[in-house]
Amino acid sequence: MVVEIDERGAKRLLARHPWVYRSAVRSAPAEPGLYPVRHRGRFLALALFNPKSELAVRAYAWREGEPWAVWLQNLERALARRAEDRQKRPEGGRRLVHAEGDFLPGLVVDEYAGHLVVQIGAAALEARRETLARALVEALEPRGLLFKNDARGRLQEGLPRYVELAHGEVPELLWIEEGPVWLPVRPRSGQKTGAFLDQRENRLLAGELAARTRPESALDVFGYQGGFALHVARHAARVTVVDASEEALRVAREAARKNRLENLETLEANAFDFLKREARRGPAYDLVVLDPPSFARKRADLERAYAAYKEVNLRAMRLVRPGGHLLTASCSHHLGEEAFLAMLRDAAGDARRTFRLVARRGQAADHPVLVNVPETGYLKFAVLEALE
Ligand SMILES: C[S@@+](CC[C@H](N)C(=O)[O-])C[C@H]1O[C@@H](n2cnc3c(N)ncnc32)[C@H](O)[C@@H]1O
Repeated sequence: MVVEIDERGAKRLLARHPWVYRSAVRSAPAEPGLYPVRHRGRFLALALFNPKSELAVRAYAWREGEPWAVWLQNLERALARRAEDRQKRPEGGRRLVHAEGDFLPGLVVDEYAGHLVVQIGAAALEARRETLARALVEALEPRGLLFKNDARGRLQEGLPRYVELAHGEVPELLWIEEGPVWLPVRPRSGQKTGAFLDQRENRLLAGELAARTRPESALDVFGYQGGFALHVARHAARVTVVDASEEALRVAREAARKNRLENLETLEANAFDFLKREARRGPAYDLVVLDPPSFARKRADLERAYAAYKEVNLRAMRLVRPGGHLLTASCSHHLGEEAFLAMLRDAAGDARRTFRLVARRGQAADHPVLVNVPETGYLKFAVLEALE
């Protein structure tokens, strides 16, 4: 069984971009599965295929072979790349599989202190999820494995949404070691797979910056369970975490206790309203973190998203004392690196403030980015120092 695609689709696969849309499919099997993809009979790639999905073809290998065996090889390679880190930080958190970035489209596997949280986003893999769970358990001997298959994207694949324990135990709330901090993770009820592993290195950086600058007062806006705040609070006089989710803030307070920090407080608020109100007070903080959710989930949202990013950054810039820092992020792939910097320039101009770009970072190294597949890179992160 083979998927035959047109010339337009073939060009994409030859350029090593894995996505081919349904409109480029000429003939294909009726069922989702893992198949060779061809153009005029010539082999191009092995791919996940779903006739029901707009994004019908997602290639995972450009070498020939038995499709499932090659897929398992890719899984082995992804796990091998993290083997050393697993040994070094057994109680830590890491991404073991980053979908297309690891040549495993439709699959995310995150590990939290030996517990696996797996997200399947492709019908072809859903059909093999038991085999997949067995392969992961055999290779990694985890304490537990949870399928967190509740992402909205599954509907486009014609898949149901559910959360299900497939092996061992996965607690409601667990703790991972992140450098000097115990970070909380809620695999079942938390956002994403329970925590935001993509910001791991940036949170460590925030902690190092706070250790050097000893902020009097700090803010963690869109703070979730206080990820950045916990690192900063170890070196600051006081830190406030602002988020719209009281459930996340309750966990942030629990995390402060677990880390023996008495200088972390939380505020349930809409960040837009909070920043607008707070900005009227003028520069009152030495360190501000802004880590908003994606404001542009699709390209069409970009204009509105740019305005929203600019608004929160502009207001946050007004809050930073001279000599203080703004740590600002965007996790929207559609807002590219250049647009992110242009947005910061616009915001600083409107705030009538000058900022020095101290560092530019991205997502953690265990979220690999492929040059050929810009969609694999999405997180932008900048450290700005407020000048006079
Ligand atoms: C990307 S996450 C932050 C992750 C966090 N910095 C960490 O390192 O764990 C974005 C957060 O923004 C919150 N959020 C979304 N919209 C919001 C709004 N309008 N006001 C306040 N918080 C909001 C979400 O509840 C979520 O916790």
